[in-house]
Order: sequence, then C-alpha cells, then structure tokens
Amino acid sequence: MDKKIELLQSKIAEARLGGGEARIKKQHAKGKLTARERIHFLLDDGSFEEIGMFVTHRTKEFGMENQRFPGDGVVTGYGTVNGRLTYVFAQDFTVFGGSLSETHAEKICKIMDLAVKNGAPVIGLNDSGGARIQEGVRSLGGYADIFYRNVRSSGVIPQVSAVMGPCAGGAVYSPAMTDFTIMVEHTSYMFVTGPNVVKTVTNEEVTSEELGGAHTHATKSGVTHLTAANDIECIEKIKKLLSYIPQNCEEKTPRLPYELGEELREQLIGIIPENAHQPYDMREVINGIVDEASFFEIHEEFAENIVVGFARLAGRSIGIVGNQPMSLAGCLDVNSARKGARFVRFCDCFNIPLLVMEDVPGFLPGTNQEWNGIIVNGAKLLYAFSEATVPRVTVITRKAYGGAYDVMNSKHIGADMNFAWPAAEIAVMGAKGASEIIFRKEIKEADDPVALLAQKEKEYKEHFANPYTAAERGFIDEVIHPKDTRRKLIKTFAMLENKKEKLPKKKHGNVPL
Ligand code: HXC
Repeated sequence: MDKKIELLQSKIAEARLGGGEARIKKQHAKGKLTARERIHFLLDDGSFEEIGMFVTHRTKEFGMENQRFPGDGVVTGYGTVNGRLTYVFAQDFTVFGGSLSETHAEKICKIMDLAVKNGAPVIGLNDSGGARIQEGVRSLGGYADIFYRNVRSSGVIPQVSAVMGPCAGGAVYSPAMTDFTIMVEHTSYMFVTGPNVVKTVTNEEVTSEELGGAHTHATKSGVTHLTAANDIECIEKIKKLLSYIPQNCEEKTPRLPYELGEELREQLIGIIPENAHQPYDMREVINGIVDEASFFEIHEEFAENIVVGFARLAGRSIGIVGNQPMSLAGCLDVNSARKGARFVRFCDCFNIPLLVMEDVPGFLPGTNQEWNGIIVNGAKLLYAFSEATVPRVTVITRKAYGGAYDVMNSKHIGADMNFAWPAAEIAVMGAKGASEIIFRKEIKEADDPVALLAQKEKEYKEHFANPYTAAERGFIDEVIHPKDTRRKLIKTFAMLENKKEKLPKKKHGNVPL
C-alpha cells in the first residue's frame, strides 16, 4: 500500500510541476503567473478541487508519444470565490505553450458541463499558443466542442474569460462568446490573424500589442470589457465582478446587509450646469446615488459617450446605463448602442435590475454613423431594453430628445418607473433646431429674423423644455428633487423586487445583430 501511496504522491508532484522548473521560471520572467498560481489567487484558500490531473494526450505523431505531461496543459476543477461555488480552467503555458489538444479540450468541456448542471459560473484563464499543431483537426474539433458549450451555457450561467497570454486564430471566439473578457496589459493579445499575416495580406506593419493588445481592445474594438495591469489585478477584478452577479439565471445576486438612513444626497443639487450646453460627468451623478464606492464600471474606455457598470443600492446589485455628456455630448452612436445593448442583455439574463440615467440629445449625425449602420446598431439598444423583463427604472437628468428618448428605457418600451429631475427637457429636438424648422417661413419673411427666432425658441422651450408635459401624460411618473433620487430609487427597486413578466411564447427573438 505504501508503494501505491508513494506512486500517487510522485504523480501529483509531477503534475504540479507542469512543464518543469525552467519553464516556470520563463513564465515568471515574462511577468506572468503559472496556471496553478493563478487558480490559487482566484479561489478561496484550500477550496480548489482538481479534476483530470492525470489526463494526457493521445497523440503518437511527431514524436509526441514520448512527451506526455500529466494534465496536458490545462488545470481544471472547482472551488469557491468568496464562499460561492465557481468552476475554473487555467491553461498552462509551460506545457506545449498551453496549446489546445483533443484531451485538453475534453477537460475544459467536462468543467463546463458540470457548471451548467450545477448552476455556477465558469472562469477561463486563457494563456495558449492556440490549436495543438501536432493534432491537426482533432484540436480544431476540441475548440468547436468548447464554442458549442459557450453558446449552450450562454444566459444559463455566467462565463468570464481572462486573457493572460496569447490568444490567436479561432481561439479568440471562446472569450468572445462568454459574458465578460478581461485582458492583462502587455502580456496578452487577441487577434484572428497575427502581424505576419497582416503584413502579407494588407502590407500593414503592426506589432502584436498594437494589433490586439489590451489597450487596443479596450479602446478601439471593445472586445475586452476590462483590463488589468498584471495577473493579480486581473484576478481581483474577476472576483469583484462575480460579487455583482448571481450564480445562474434562476437566482438573484445575494444582497449585502444595509441599514437604511435618511438617504438624501445634497451633493446632487447643482450638479447639472445652468447652461444646457455645458457637460458634466455622469459618473459623478451615479456615484452620488449608489452605495459608497460600489460603482464598478465595465467597458470604461470604449464608447465613452455611454457609461455602463454594476453598483449597489442599499446592498442590492443593479446594472446602470448612463448617457455621458462629457463625450459627444452624450449622443448615441454605433459603438455606444452596441455597448449598451450587450450590457442590458447580460443584466436581463441574470436578473439584475436596470437603472438608466438619461441625458441624451439624440443620435449622432453623419455619414460615418449612417454608413456604419447606426440604424441596426441603434436598434440593438432599443431591442435590448424592449425585451428586458427585469425591473427597469429611468431617471432623466437633463435632455431626452427625439428617438433617443424612446430608446433609453422609456415607459413606452416597458420601463417600470420613470423619474425626471426639474431641469429635464423632453422633446422631439432642441428648441433652436425645432423653431428653425417649424417657423422657417415666418422667420425668413420677418423684418428681424434673429429676434423672431429667439422669440419662437423661447416659446418652444416654455412648452417642451421641461418634464411636466411628459408628466401630465404619465410618461414620467414623478418629477423629483435631485437630492431625493437615491431615497426614491431604493424604495422603487424594493417595490419592484418581485416583478414577474413573461415574454410571449417564442423560440427566440430576432435581435438586429
Ligand atoms: C504546439 C506549441 C504551440 C502550438 C506553442 N507551442 N504553440 N506547441 N502547438 N500551437 C510550444 C512551442 O513549440 C514551445 O515548445 C512552447 O510551446 C513555448 O512556445 P514558444 O514559441 O517558445 O513561446 P513564445 O516565444 O512565448 O511564443 C508564444 C507563441 C508562439 C507566440 C504563442 O509559440 C507561437 O507563435 N505559437 C504558434 C501559434 C499558432 O500559430 N497557433 C495555431 C493558431 S491557429 P518548446 O518545447 O520548444 O518549449 C489556431 C486555430 C484555432 O489556433 C482554430 C479554432 C477554431
């Protein structure tokens, strides 16, 4: 028996060593942790249970039968994050560059299947040279098995991908189909075709970092939702993200304990500038409303004209979508509509109530926007709000103009409660533009066209540049004092806590992708 125990212990030690000491040192020299170290920092102390530690590949070609490492380049298992069950796989770059073999894929699929059956999130820590070249189509099949499960699990359990090393070719599509991607700056990249192929095909000279580094995907493409300075920060951000979301689509996020006080927020008085053309930072408004330091922004550097993220309100997790007057005056455009729609759909999948902070002068005009499909992309946000059945509340802080008024969670598309601050202007368009159109003839023929335009503008403003016309019709439920917003929202979300709404029976809708 002792001999058998010894054998087991030596096999475990071998598996824990991955590709060996020298390769671990190489990994550290690149500023990266190993797969096991990453899991250690992610999961609660002592909670990790490994699955498939002794799995090896089955390849005989290219001398592979003599190169077998237990675990085959991926560490898989489960544990807890802040006490909640979480499944994890971490690719081990020290073994064949973390490349994905048939058996490596089988290990990941096993974890994904268990996660769905048991209703808990899957966290993928990716660090891989892609398909195991020696295995050919068997490896490609393995990728497809994972993609298939990513889609089947979508909306059932949360899926988070950390990209902590290379991620190239078709391999990028697994993170792309999970709910959130987080990339580590300078040590990770994602692209479908690398710089060499790009040079051959388009003659463009570009580095891996420029083409698909964390900064590129955080600012230009929006492929990554979050970035981190290093592996540790990446793991901390994953844990924080998990704290706002439930275990699966049938549960709610656990509420943190909170004792209600007077909940008035004086700092919100005067936060909107007197001049309607002057910007202000919607983040300041959000931070003034939600529980202290609870706002966790997603997609911070992408499409900055819309702000999305999670926060807590009296301990309840909520998702926030806010127009950002600091960027493009808060207009909706192609990227902000895509960003907002994706976030709204995530919150709706996972029972996270939505708060919309609205200050939107309309859709961004221009050939660039029209030719890049502002019509279908704007429709994504409209569609996402319209189909969402979670509690939905809107606060109009200033402008709510044109089609954007409808899109930004208006009552007409199913919002539960809509509030407006006294400075709100709810109209088809701004007073100047409106007067120029409807009084064009009179103004042209007037002795003093400038004075007449000013007078018509004033009249239009008096009539529409306020929240009361909308409130008279019930499109706005209440006009509220800014300092009262937090108190009002706490009560409103508590009132909506048990909201139940079912969509008409269908296979699935046809979102304008
Ligand atoms: C097998 C691989 C491998 C792979 C790396 N290795 N990638 N083995 N299949 N895909 C091995 C290397 O041979 C090396 O082994 C060890 O991993 C470490 O690799 P290095 O090259 O020394 O590391 P580094 O210098 O950091 O470069 C990392 C890298 C490079 C940029 C990822 O290894 C690379 O370009 N690899 C190939 C990438 C690739 O073309 N993959 C296929 C993409 S297509 P030794 O024993 O020498 O240490 C794809 C399709 C997916 O993935 C389709 C899904 C639908």
